[in-house]
Amino acid sequence: MPQAISDSMGSIEYALQLRHISKTYPGVKALDDVSFDVMKGTVHSIIGENGAGKSTLMKIINGMEAANQGEILVYGRKEEITSPKTAKNLGIAMIFQELVYVPNLTVGENFFIGKHPKGKNGFIDWKHIYAEAQKRLDTEGLAFSSRKVMSEIPISDIQLLEIIKATTENASIIIMDEPTSSLTNHETLRLFEKIKRMRDEGRTILYISHKMDEIFELSDCITVMRDGKTIRTGPVAEFDRDNIIRMIVGREIASVYPAVKPPEKEIVLDVQGLCRGKTFQDVNIKLYKGEILGIAGLVGAGRTEIVQAICGLDLRDKGDIFVEGRQVKITDVQSGIRAGITLATEDRRKFGVVMGFSIKHNITLPNLYQFLRFIFIDKRHERTEAQKYFEKMRIKAISLNTEAYTLSGGNQQKLVLAKWMMSKPKILILDEPTRGIDVGAKYEIYELMRDMAESGAAIIMISSELPELIGMSHRVYVVAEGRIAGELPKEAVSQVNIMNLATGGK
Ligand SMILES: Nc1ncnc2c1ncn2[C@@H]1O[C@H](COP(=O)(O)OP(=O)(O)OP(=O)(O)O)[C@@H](O)[C@H]1O
Ligand SMILES: [Mg+2]
Repeated sequence: MPQAISDSMGSIEYALQLRHISKTYPGVKALDDVSFDVMKGTVHSIIGENGAGKSTLMKIINGMEAANQGEILVYGRKEEITSPKTAKNLGIAMIFQELVYVPNLTVGENFFIGKHPKGKNGFIDWKHIYAEAQKRLDTEGLAFSSRKVMSEIPISDIQLLEIIKATTENASIIIMDEPTSSLTNHETLRLFEKIKRMRDEGRTILYISHKMDEIFELSDCITVMRDGKTIRTGPVAEFDRDNIIRMIVGREIASVYPAVKPPEKEIVLDVQGLCRGKTFQDVNIKLYKGEILGIAGLVGAGRTEIVQAICGLDLRDKGDIFVEGRQVKITDVQSGIRAGITLATEDRRKFGVVMGFSIKHNITLPNLYQFLRFIFIDKRHERTEAQKYFEKMRIKAISLNTEAYTLSGGNQQKLVLAKWMMSKPKILILDEPTRGIDVGAKYEIYELMRDMAESGAAIIMISSELPELIGMSHRVYVVAEGRIAGELPKEAVSQVNIMNLATGGK
């Protein structure tokens, strides 16, 4: 139990108190009278559907956005947080997912950016900077030199560096918005250790995630938001998986995976002897019409690299690819698409969304040929098709004409998935299709996958979330260290069997 809760004197100390916060964007009430308290020395998770207002609220606390109404108390005192700088002075720091750092600075320089300590002679004391920075790296167990350039450091280490930087700058309230979405399991555990240590030091962590396991592992308190409102806030003991899902989506969801008809006998994709250097070797994959094939494995095992090589996004040294029995030459994404293979990459925001375009155009532009009538676009058909995905995926926006940049992170993800699903490829490869997507919309995406498979497409799904992989796949390949370590038919697909193969067991 965190100290603040067990304080028998009844003098609970609050890090933050949010009072009647509202925020309106043109046509959208992003936050509607949000009030809740955050106790000092706790991990307080904020959870809710895509577009519920979580990121907006965090940006207001961090001074990046201004609320239209409401007030914020920091350690009991009312404060006007008008910029990230004022937030910083109050001890509030936000760790961003798209991390902001200057790539060609060294780790040491980055630590002391803007406040380089000067020596007696008035010059910047580099020796001191690097020594200080190194001390911090060592205590945190980061095994690299403080003279290393930022661009050479993996993203997970940079995230940790940003956290260390914030804590050495005496940040006592730390906001993390979906921090684990591109971390491996191991890196996630390391981050959790750090979060718990920070809490034990009396710091307060505001934590946003769509992953239920993380929420229950980390949280002392939880706030559920929906449609810009606080639905419930309280200690973790008041919540369980079922009631939390109901609060998040505001309706019952049949939390079972839709049954998918068994695949047909016809092989659609046949990959033989795919190799690339040390990344993957001798990969053979057979995929049947109407099949959903899962690819499991630890993050970093080579799953993404393999599918990127199949679709032409990345290179391969060797290997033949056959589509419907005919060998195809895939040298780039275009030739992959011509061969009938489309990949929805895991990094959808980077590769997929055109921010200045409307929702409709983001979904339909690459698919316009479907709506051609002679030389004209059948606008009505285009619209009804786009509308179908808009509703089905529960994209949160006023209309199809809303511009993509105004959408929340998860809703942008949905756009890209919709676009690729609408293109109706023979073979659709989905890399982490539900990352960043809320529990309610996940099930809608599973249903779309089923519909596609039953209408004859073949789907490969990579997912680190074993329950969905197990729930949706007809068959699973497990990748370990760049090789297919084993194949599990539906009857044998289980967490234990997958993990055994993924970690090199039998
Ligand atoms: N600049 C903007 N202009 C217009 N609307 C916006 C803008 N930024 C956010 N919104 C809207 O505010 C609402 C809340 O968005 P927010 O990003 O806070 O959601 P979220 O809870 O973080 O969702 P996710 O889980 O998808 O990240 C959404 O309806 C979003 O479309
Ligand atoms: Mg968000």
